[in-house]
Amino acid sequence: MPARRAGDASDMFGNLEILPPDPILGVTAAFRRDRDPDKVDLGVGVYRDEYGNTPVPGAVRAAEQAVLSEQTTKVYVGPAGNLEFNERIVALALGPLAPQLKERIAAIQTVGGCGALRMGAELLHAAAPDAVVHVSDPTWANHEPLLGNSGIALQRYPYYEPSTRSVAFDQMLGHLERLPPGAVVLLHGCCHNPTGVDLVPAQWDAVADVLERRGLVPFVDLAYQGFGDDLDTDAAGLRLLARRLPTLLLAISCSKNFGLYRERAGAFAVVAENAATARAIATHQARIGRRMYSMPPDHGAAIAARVLSDATLYRAWADEVAAMVARMKQLRSLLAGRLGARRPDLDFSWLTRQKGMFSLLGLAPAAIGALCNEEHVYMPPDGRINLAGVSDTNVDRVADAIVRVIERS
Ligand code: LMR
Repeated sequence: MPARRAGDASDMFGNLEILPPDPILGVTAAFRRDRDPDKVDLGVGVYRDEYGNTPVPGAVRAAEQAVLSEQTTKVYVGPAGNLEFNERIVALALGPLAPQLKERIAAIQTVGGCGALRMGAELLHAAAPDAVVHVSDPTWANHEPLLGNSGIALQRYPYYEPSTRSVAFDQMLGHLERLPPGAVVLLHGCCHNPTGVDLVPAQWDAVADVLERRGLVPFVDLAYQGFGDDLDTDAAGLRLLARRLPTLLLAISCSKNFGLYRERAGAFAVVAENAATARAIATHQARIGRRMYSMPPDHGAAIAARVLSDATLYRAWADEVAAMVARMKQLRSLLAGRLGARRPDLDFSWLTRQKGMFSLLGLAPAAIGALCNEEHVYMPPDGRINLAGVSDTNVDRVADAIVRVIERS
């Protein structure tokens, strides 16, 4: 091999080390490598049916077929993506408020919900480089890398009280009360990831009060609309904030509720103080997209737009979302029941109170390691479980494994 000199172009990447796996996506890879026939995947946040599959909802498949049969060209759409999708997906989130806020909204189609979050961070960084985004402690494992990589500064606000497995609301409010005007507060619209612990309506009211009083800016991440209770209830906190605050940022994902995971369909919207500001924001969003990836992929957004614009497909889809949430609630009760039957001295009722796909087991890192490596029950290192990975077939295995590691620790 020829000797390398410093600065030699052939050694350009020679100083890069192999990175550790992603805390969530790495679980999928480890699960796939495991040969145990009874392995269970409670890792990545995807919905699963009773057979362990993540199906394409029927209404989404029908919309996809319609899109494909009617599409005559693949010519570029434009930096803002599918405009009908943008309008309808924001209307799904904002509900009856959408028409009234229309002139104040700047929306852009993004590369999934992650793209929406990153678009928001880039916009904040461009408009207010000194702004700090406050994220919940804990928060989704990719929030900080995804937002922080834009250059925007991040801090955490207290959110979860492990001893009661509920929102540490007084501490959260205390933190918000001390923030300077213009600070940005990232809130999970529903189905908090990873805790499953959501604000109740009175708490949303109190958060809106402090945001309003202190001139803070909410940035709502709505990745699970319809997975907590229903499509409207899950957006109630967001709608309250949009009604009361002059400026709001919103990241929307179609991955979970439309089952469009790999299509990367999402949107980022700002409800701006006035129509002129919204028009200016739209030009910045387009420029940010153009400079990062030029234009978003069309297919998933075209499908979601089709579902949302066809009354029959919409009703069928809403019913399918309702069936998914009903199943997740049932799985929460099932697992809580099986754990309780094994250890009646321990309280597992929190599982049934939490919302969406996730709950934190609240076990020490060694116990989580044992669940993955010895029990073949996989989850991220923070002990977040995806309840949709539980089934009638594996629930006893999961409950036995959890109880075994609790008893060992
Ligand atoms: C999750 O939290 O598991 C999902 O949002 C998937 C992801 O990208 O992390």
